[in-house]
Order: sequence, then structure tokens, then C-alpha cells
Amino acid sequence: MTKPFPAALAEGIDEPCRFDIEVADLELIEGEVPTDIDGLFVQAVPDPMYPPEVAPLWPMTVAAGGDGAVRAFRIKDGCVDFKTRHVRTQRYLLEQAARRSLFGNYRDPFSDDPSVAGQDRTTANTAVYMHAGRLLASKEDGLPYEIDPVTLETKGVWNPGGKITSKTFTAHPKWDPANGEMHGFGYAARGETTRDLAYYVFDADGEMVHEAWFEAPYAAMIHDCALTEHYMLFPLMPLTTDLERLKAGGQHWVYDPDLPTVIGVIPRKGRADQVRWFHAPPTFTGHTINAFEEDGRIVFDAYECDGNGFAAVMPDKHGRMGDPSKVTTRAMRWRIDYHAPSEELTEHQVLAVADGEGPHIDPRRLCQSYRHVFAPTLNRSRLITDRNGRVVPVFFNQLTHFDLTTGHREDWYAGEGATLQDPVYFPRSATADEDDGYLIVVLNRPLEKSNELVILETRRLAAGPVARLKLPVRLRLGIHSNWIDGSLIPAWR
Ligand SMILES: [Fe+2]
Repeated sequence: MTKPFPAALAEGIDEPCRFDIEVADLELIEGEVPTDIDGLFVQAVPDPMYPPEVAPLWPMTVAAGGDGAVRAFRIKDGCVDFKTRHVRTQRYLLEQAARRSLFGNYRDPFSDDPSVAGQDRTTANTAVYMHAGRLLASKEDGLPYEIDPVTLETKGVWNPGGKITSKTFTAHPKWDPANGEMHGFGYAARGETTRDLAYYVFDADGEMVHEAWFEAPYAAMIHDCALTEHYMLFPLMPLTTDLERLKAGGQHWVYDPDLPTVIGVIPRKGRADQVRWFHAPPTFTGHTINAFEEDGRIVFDAYECDGNGFAAVMPDKHGRMGDPSKVTTRAMRWRIDYHAPSEELTEHQVLAVADGEGPHIDPRRLCQSYRHVFAPTLNRSRLITDRNGRVVPVFFNQLTHFDLTTGHREDWYAGEGATLQDPVYFPRSATADEDDGYLIVVLNRPLEKSNELVILETRRLAAGPVARLKLPVRLRLGIHSNWIDGSLIPAWR
């Protein structure tokens, strides 16, 4: 028998689920599941198996410290089968054996039970993606774990040929659709709080074909990256970490609004001495939308916050928590000339006022010019309150299609009382237009503690779902979602 979860984790729709289950043939509430959809909608979910015993329990531990679970919806022939299963990380297995929490705060090994000193702390809870026929669950503080895409059983740590010597690997690698390469990196590559970056390239068969090590200007979170035809980009976030602070029991990240914008650029498969660190006045870069080259220059599109994008879970450098309701986001474009004499960035323009995050584009347009962005957004005029009159925390309550060429925007509002998790977008077929496809999303009904799976056609987004399906269990908030075409899964070919 385990202890109760602390209050921060024991309320609302987001209390831990802790189960591994499968449900065949989800029940339709409305519409029909299009029969041309054949693939797997996957999500990474932080879902703690045991109540944290660490004190103080930092907000980032509550939000992102849970054991990783992989949630998968298999969609084929108009039917949807659901599975969710925890990743059997080393951490998960150690805690299962002890029947209690042994690991302390988010990315703080000094807060762990001494019995697990030196063990792999990663939870594999941030993103699930496919490369070279392998499904990988990843959190940026460790190496990914390979998951069987059919059974969701854990196969073990993914380290092809044992060649990855970085202690970490990003949850957001990038792919080149032209050759199937995956470009990724680890930051804090020699251990937590270090400035080391390890840049890796893997070919379409999953073999490592390039490696370069270098140091970032400061020990920052580098959550995402970007890839163009000739360059790999590393945008630093103004979130810093410090070994002495961790040892003293402080939080891993603090927000420093005075730090300059820094974007590292290395030629594809380049050497450490080819890295250039471009800089600009302070900004807060979030997730990458896309990057490409135009007229010999790099175009880098990303979300950007006008304050601390992690205000709810990370303090500023003075120890003050922010107010997430006051932070808004925009889609922004940088232009970077790798060969310019100066490393000062000056070209920065607004693409769209987004008020959301987690952009998705047609995967065929990665590393190339593109036109359409799909993203969850927040309509602040339609927030909901619980029975005590408190505003229910909401990240998103709309899905939005941004047409970057015309500036047109189309929204689908999820409805009274509904909130949304991270969606996926994929084109209807291999030859479909860039904006002609499907959005699939897990919808939350926080006041009812229930969820639905919702499928929308992007060319009639505002008309609402073509299918809504009932989940017979409550689902915790996942982090990132991904779509894997059925043809990419070896067992389904
Ligand atoms: Fe992310």
C-alpha cells in the first residue's frame, strides 16, 4: 500500500492515473472515424507511480517529474484501439521494487534517496517519436527508451552501437524528409548543470554518422532545436541552472529576463570550431515551428513568450514566481546569415499572434519553406470556473490553423468546459496538399474528470469534429503528441 499523493498532485483531472491498460474499439459519441486514417497517435505523459517524498516539492517536479507513460491510439479501418503503458525506466523499476518514491525533485540528484545514487534518473516522459522503425520515449535529461509500438513494452535504453556518450538527448530531434536523417543533441551532456552540448546525426537506419562536442555560452535549457538544408540551430532559453544552487536545495531552473537571446548555429555535420553563437536583446524562445533557407540566409520560426514561459513552475532569478495568465505568445521569425561578419541578430518579425504553443506542421515541409501551422491556442474570454468559482487552469481551449501566406486564421473552439492537450497534424495522404489533413487531440472535461478523443478535418476546422470518441477512463495531461503513419511500423507493413 502506498501513501496518499500530496495535495498538489491529488486534485482534479490531473491526479495520477498509475495504470497500464488497453481498451479495444473506443465508443463513438459523434460522427465517424475516417477510413483513410491508418496510423498511431502517441503521447508522452508524466504520470507518477508513487507520491513524491521530497521536501520541498518543487512545482516543476509536480508538473514534469512523473514517470513516463506512453499513450497510444491505433487508428485503422474506422476503429480506434487505445493503450497506455508506463515506460520501464531504471527509475520506475527501482521504485516498483521499493514500493515507494526514491527519486527527489526534478533534475536534482542531490534530493534522491541515497540508495539510488548514480542510477539513471530519467523518466522518459516528454515526447515519443519514431526513428528507423524504432519508437522512442524521451525526456531531455537522459537517453531515450525504446518502446514496442504494438505492445508498448519497454525494450531498454536506446543507444545505437553504444556510441552516444552524452548523458542526455533531446526530446525534440529534427528530421530531414529528403534523406530520413535525424539530427539531435544532448545538452548538459557531461552531467546536470554543465554547458556541454553533443550534436549527433543518425542516418535513416539509425546508425550514428556524426558527432561534435562544444560548450554553450551559459548553462541554459535548450529544449528544442531547428534544422535547415545546411544548418542545425540551438536556441538557448533564458533559464539557467547552477550546481551550487542544486546542492543547496534550490530549484533546477530559474528565469533570467536579462540574458540575451542566443542561437547557436553549426553547419550540418559540422565541427565544434564551426559553431557560431548569434545574439540579440532578451527574448523567451519556445518550441520551434520550422526552419529553412532563403536567399542564402537561415529563416528560423519559433514561438516566443513576452515573459517567463514557465511562470507557473519556475521562479525568476530573484526567487519570485510569475503569473502565467499574464504571459502571451507569438509566432516569430528570425533571419540569420551564418557568414555575416557580426553575430548580432537584427531581423526579427512577428508571424502570428498565437496565444498558444506546441506548433505542428506538415512533416513533409520540415527544413523547407512552408505555409501552414496548426497549433492549440487559448481563448482567454472563454475560461471556465469550478464549483468554488476558481478559474480552471487551462493551457488550450481551441485548435487553430494559421496560413502564413494569407495571414488567415481559422479556429475551432472546443466548447464550454472543455480543454485540450497537445494535438497532432498529418496530411490526408502522401500526395495531399500541405493543409489537407487531420488534427487529432485528447479533449479534457476537467469538471467531469473525463476525456474524449477528437478528430477534425483541417479544411473544415471551424465546422468541428468529424468524430468524437469516449474514453472510459480519465487521462492525465500529456506533454507532447506525435503521429506515426502505419506504414512506418514494421509489424504493420
Ligand atoms: Fe517540448
